Amino acid sequence: MNKQFGNDDPKVASYIARVYALEDDLLRDIRERTARGGLPDIQVAALDARHLEVLSRAMGVRRAVEIGTLGGYSGVSLLRGMRDDGVLDTIEIDPAHAAIAAESFRRAGFADRARIHVGAALDVLPTLRAAGPFDLVFIDADKESYPQYLAWAADNLRQGGAVLGDNAFLFGKLTIEPTPKGDDAVSVLAMRDFHETLAAGKLFRSTVLPTGEGLALGVRL
Ligand SMILES: C[S@@+](CC[C@H](N)C(=O)[O-])C[C@H]1O[C@@H](n2cnc3c(N)ncnc32)[C@H](O)[C@@H]1O
Repeated sequence: MNKQFGNDDPKVASYIARVYALEDDLLRDIRERTARGGLPDIQVAALDARHLEVLSRAMGVRRAVEIGTLGGYSGVSLLRGMRDDGVLDTIEIDPAHAAIAAESFRRAGFADRARIHVGAALDVLPTLRAAGPFDLVFIDADKESYPQYLAWAADNLRQGGAVLGDNAFLFGKLTIEPTPKGDDAVSVLAMRDFHETLAAGKLFRSTVLPTGEGLALGVRL
């Protein structure tokens, strides 16, 4: 039997959301403040936020890097799963997004454990090297740079540390055409490069969790 990815029955989705109480008041407040601040509605889904929290907890994460903060929805979720003395370095290019996230971390009680770095991730990442090696790197920013973010993760994760990449299905645009065309061609090629490096087996042992967006997960060998 060829089992398909995922489950698109809305009744099952709402049952799971209710039974697992996926979005509590704190996350709802972050999502609503993010929207009121005029930021795009592109934070991870509540189920993916729970994945981040539970994976962090399962891995005993103490030091994590997030690329793409937005309003702090995923960052708060990561910190909820991290050890009590864990610190998250999270990178955001847009100062307005970073300001909303700072308030989210404050309300969640994580003001002293979330370090927001405002700038382009490719500029900020080299400055974090000295704080490594890291237990977890979560990639959720511009898709064109996923291969460079993965290379940084490979260099800065401890052995057994994990990289997570959201939007691994590239919003349904992950074609396998040899030469993709149009506006998405650069991001399609970048996402394929990301997958193929993760899958090659030299640096990581990897899988893709078939969430709505596709959540790539590689463990550093
Ligand atoms: C999908 S959102 C992140 C959502 C967030 N991880 C969450 O689930 O709550 C992507 C974020 O990455 C930021 N971003 C885009 N390009 C970036 C770059 N080159 N460096 C750092 N941040 C970037 C965007 O401004 C946006 O806030």
